[in-house]
Amino acid sequence: MIEVICLTKQFGPKTAVDNISFSVARGEVLGFLGPNGAGKSTTMRMITGFIPPTRGTVTVGGDDIQTAPLRAKARIGYLPENAPLYSDMTVASFLRFAAELRGITGAAQKAAVDKAIETCFLEKVATQSLDTLSKGFRHRTCLAQSIVHDPEVLILDEPTDGLDPNQKQEVRNLIRRLGATKTVIFSTHILEEVEAVCSRAIIIDQGKVVADGSPDQLKRRASRAGAVKVRLRGLAGSGVLAELEKLPHVQRVESLESGISHFVGRVFPTKMAGDGTLAGEIYQFAVGRQLQLQELTVDEGRLDEMFREITAQVRS
Ligand SMILES: Nc1ncnc2c1ncn2[C@@H]1O[C@H](COP(=O)(O)OP(=O)(O)O)[C@@H](O)[C@H]1O
Ligand SMILES: [Mg+2]
Repeated sequence: MIEVICLTKQFGPKTAVDNISFSVARGEVLGFLGPNGAGKSTTMRMITGFIPPTRGTVTVGGDDIQTAPLRAKARIGYLPENAPLYSDMTVASFLRFAAELRGITGAAQKAAVDKAIETCFLEKVATQSLDTLSKGFRHRTCLAQSIVHDPEVLILDEPTDGLDPNQKQEVRNLIRRLGATKTVIFSTHILEEVEAVCSRAIIIDQGKVVADGSPDQLKRRASRAGAVKVRLRGLAGSGVLAELEKLPHVQRVESLESGISHFVGRVFPTKMAGDGTLAGEIYQFAVGRQLQLQELTVDEGRLDEMFREITAQVRS
């Protein structure tokens, strides 16, 4: 549905987006993740045809955003970073205006506006002017603007930014619901959002794609993923560490806590160890040495850890 090829944007000497390529299939909800200044908004602006790329191409539904902008843009709904609102308009009149801009008139316009109001839970404030709305409602009005023409593709730039926790949750549910029938790209720097909403995430840092995969795949790239946390009781600490390190599938052991009669550590598997191998080995070890096994948990990896590690690599 979306094809981004070798996309680059230079602002003077600064390369904000550096030769990015990826594609998004119909029905995918793609999280665009990255620290501030990574190039997320700039990439989205180029995908939506808001600014031209320095190099590279974008096609949406097979139409090039630069050579066939009308056809490509008709498929897109866009929530920009600082969405403009005309503050003296009411919610309904603003949405009618947005629909009008999209060429929707007459009965179809009324139906489209009603549907957008309903989808974004704006019924209560539909006749209120925009400058009297709370931030959450104003935000949802912007979101309603982006879906009023029922686009196949939604590009949402930090759609939950500045909302309170309940509102964030509402918008996430909304994105998930919209994602059932649309192709969605949304940017965020909130990692839990990616786990909650996306089928896939692309991490971008300093204008480059540094990781691309499902949240589960990305989590497994964290250095701690697959490591086993173990709590043993019954023996002096230091000896246990050395013994654990001798087990066939152990790469190394990190001591977290140790005393005369207990040891708590994190055991990292060798590359050869399959799922569960290491935990099994540690269990056998504890039984054989008659140690009390008080905890044995496999770390499934954490997105924030992976994110920190990956973005730090790029910087060093
Ligand atoms: N119009 C512009 N002129 C000059 N530099 C810009 C402009 N827009 C963005 N940048 C720079 O490009 C980089 C990427 O910005 P942006 O895409 O907004 O990042 P993000 O959305 O990931 O926070 C930043 O260093 C930013 O300062
Ligand atoms: Mg941004």
